[in-house]
Amino acid sequence: MKKVTLSLLLLFSLIVLTACGGSGGSSGAGGDGVQEMTIKFSHVVAENTPKHQGALAMKEYIERESDGAITVEIYPNSSLFGDQDEYQNLVSNNVQFIAPDLTKFVGNNPQFNVPALPFMFENDDEAIAFWDGEKGQEILGSLKDDGVVGLSMWPNGGKHLTNNKRAIDSPDDLEGLKFRTQGGQVLEAIYSELGAGSESIPFGELYTALDQGVVDGQENTFSNIESRKFDEVQTHMTVMNHTRVDYAVFTNTEFWDSMNAATKEIVQAGLDEGTKVAREEAKTLNEKAYETIKERGLVEIVELTPEQIEEFRAALEPIYAEFEEEIGTDVYEAAREAAGQ
Ligand code: LMR
Repeated sequence: MKKVTLSLLLLFSLIVLTACGGSGGSSGAGGDGVQEMTIKFSHVVAENTPKHQGALAMKEYIERESDGAITVEIYPNSSLFGDQDEYQNLVSNNVQFIAPDLTKFVGNNPQFNVPALPFMFENDDEAIAFWDGEKGQEILGSLKDDGVVGLSMWPNGGKHLTNNKRAIDSPDDLEGLKFRTQGGQVLEAIYSELGAGSESIPFGELYTALDQGVVDGQENTFSNIESRKFDEVQTHMTVMNHTRVDYAVFTNTEFWDSMNAATKEIVQAGLDEGTKVAREEAKTLNEKAYETIKERGLVEIVELTPEQIEEFRAALEPIYAEFEEEIGTDVYEAAREAAGQ
């Protein structure tokens, strides 16, 4: 009898202890309240860019709505992790959010090449429609074996060519030049199709690489060109919009699943706020950046005519057949549908 009473007492104490979460009531993962935590968001671009503005909006929302229980630390300009190590550190949960250019993940899944498909999307809305759609979501979910998931696509915009050798207004003009790319088979194939060389270089090292002539040129959005002052070390820019920089916010699934309902609700709503701001700001910031580049007057600018764009489009058409098997006919179809083609 005494033994049974003792066992019951023990069991009761255990239940009470478990219900308290053992880690401080409302601040513990087992409690119902918002958990106290610090979340790190690392990225490689400057502060006056759509990605950073989205991250800031996310931070402000989460810190306000959690009454300061959650702190979001943003690390721009590769100040915490760069292109080379941010993914590995997300996998290890040393950082909880990163928002890389999707073409940097082609090593994990070649379908991340979509933003590099030449002249596929004309604007942010088309790219957003693809990534928000069924195929896009499937691709963003394809890293789950690494414990990583893409939660939301954030656009930057169309890319344009800069170089320090000559004005480029036709496909032949690239012959013999060497360009830096964000990486990936499709971007590499684009340059080789045009008789040029290419090399993948981390974003944080690009200014120096251009300055020292490691490569002659690069392709990027106005916002990245302007905020990183690539025009200081380049002499020509061709407005092309031939490929894109698009991001997704990726998180570590172990971290994501560790949040209780109240905490996750705030973090998810903060992410939604960030998505809204990043999507709203992308076009405006790129337009503003283009104006600033023109005002600075450091590069000679070529704006391609529709006929010249057609020439580039025709020259790059073989890329589609070359990668159809690897990327998938279904992905091409979904992208074309999102682009209204
Ligand atoms: C680049 O490496 O050029 C860009 O993808 C950087 C970025 O994150 O926008």
